Amino acid sequence: MGIEQIKVGFDNFSYIIYDLISKESAIVDPSINITKQIDFLKVKKLDLKYIINTHHHRDHTLKNDKIKEIYPDAKIIISEVFLRKLDINSKIYVYEAFELEIGSMRLKFLLTPGHTPDGLCIIVDDKAIITGDTLFIDNCGRADTPGGNIYDLFNSLQKIKKLSDDIIVYPGHDYGPKFFDKLGNQKKTNKTLLARNLDEFSKIP
Ligand SMILES: [Fe+2]
Repeated sequence: MGIEQIKVGFDNFSYIIYDLISKESAIVDPSINITKQIDFLKVKKLDLKYIINTHHHRDHTLKNDKIKEIYPDAKIIISEVFLRKLDINSKIYVYEAFELEIGSMRLKFLLTPGHTPDGLCIIVDDKAIITGDTLFIDNCGRADTPGGNIYDLFNSLQKIKKLSDDIIVYPGHDYGPKFFDKLGNQKKTNKTLLARNLDEFSKIP
């Protein structure tokens, strides 16, 4: 199992999920700058099968088209509640617990609305979770921007909280003291996961 975390722009994280034996791979949230991601794919001689967007915000989707120009066979994977359903032939709309394979790796999708209605998280081989703007290290995404919903966000965080402590959390932005962390640690230090109910959650400054 390979996950390459690549920092782009000011604080965005993009990811390459890859299997070195089959050479199959996926890019998560190609945005702002894709130079490092393309270099990584080329150096490792990877075949890009999927472009996955954790949600529709431009700082997570901006370079989808550019990647498609370079890898025309790559399919875009987005939530079934994605707001702009265009060009359906090249997209796969995922639903709760949708699964797909990248070589020997198994990806499982969780729908995690709240920051946006179309938020999703990607669980890789039950060992890692890429959380987009749903969960950051020691914080969570905003629910007060257009389409945000604090009730949905709280429920999405509860869904993540049920996963194994050993899973590594890979967030959509570098907003915390670390680039990634074990979910078990986050359950102890992340105030948004420590909130026991919506009332406590909504009072977090
Ligand atoms: Fe966002």
